[in-house]
Amino acid sequence: MKVARTVEEIRALVAQARAAGARIGMVPTMGALHAGHYSLIDAARSAGDFLVVSIFVNPTQFGPNEDYRTYPRTWEADCGGCEAHGADAVFAPTPEVMYPEGFATTVHVSGLTEVLCGRYRPGHFDGVCTVVAKLFGAVGPDAAWFGRKDYQQLVVIRRMVADLNLPVRIEEVPIVREPDGLAMSSRNARLDRRERPQAAALSRALREAQVRVAQGACGAQEVADEIRTGIETDAPLGDIDYVEIVDPATLAGVERIDRPAVAAVAVRFPSARLIDNMLLTPPGR
Ligand code: PAJ
Repeated sequence: MKVARTVEEIRALVAQARAAGARIGMVPTMGALHAGHYSLIDAARSAGDFLVVSIFVNPTQFGPNEDYRTYPRTWEADCGGCEAHGADAVFAPTPEVMYPEGFATTVHVSGLTEVLCGRYRPGHFDGVCTVVAKLFGAVGPDAAWFGRKDYQQLVVIRRMVADLNLPVRIEEVPIVREPDGLAMSSRNARLDRRERPQAAALSRALREAQVRVAQGACGAQEVADEIRTGIETDAPLGDIDYVEIVDPATLAGVERIDRPAVAAVAVRFPSARLIDNMLLTPPGR
């Protein structure tokens, strides 16, 4: 496995692989890799020939009061994991490589970024879109894998790729969870001994909603209220940013769940902000 630190280095590796007839797969990450990331890497590995994992903690997607400086960085373990899961190259640029003096471009997807997390993290998706566009530009993958864990991010990236005619296929991977249902996240390590058990409340409440909808409940407000009550009861240390039931494609709020909808939640614990989502499918759909 090769490690590339500059755009020139990763381009040379990719060009070599392409010349040998390989198709290029890519998994963009911010490192602190866990089983969720590795499920993306495994999916990409079984689909493509030459697999690039990018590891870059992107400063521009963190707000001024967010955790850029303290975001977990586990470089050695990440490299070992990438190699064990069959990555051919890790692209790990520095902030100076990605944002040199004079950098002046932002990729902004409107509409889809103004709802859900976009309301609570101004500028976040501009940072995500800009860096993902740059990573695609640097690596030039045929396909890239994203997790449904960050559902809004996935929808926004699909929009950006379609709108900018980027020649990359976007593939999605289901959420990988801890045994108690907590969606795996690099930030989970921050949860303390009181917070950690309460964090399972998000997936528990979502799963209950999934069951209720499968049994015929269709009022979105009522289902959202039940999710909210479930989280408030089981996670008193958490502050809910939102509980919303949205159209899977447009992310617009729905009133009646008469076709599949996504229930999405964000909860701030003292040590970490957590997000989760599940698909709600009415009977017979
Ligand atoms: P990061 O949080 O490191 O996540 C990288 C990828 O792993 C994303 O596509 C995310 O959805 C996926 N992922 C994380 N936890 C997961 C889980 N439990 N199950 C399945 N997939 C999971 O998302 C980012 O980095 C950044 O915003 C990035 C796209 C790299 C741009 O900087």
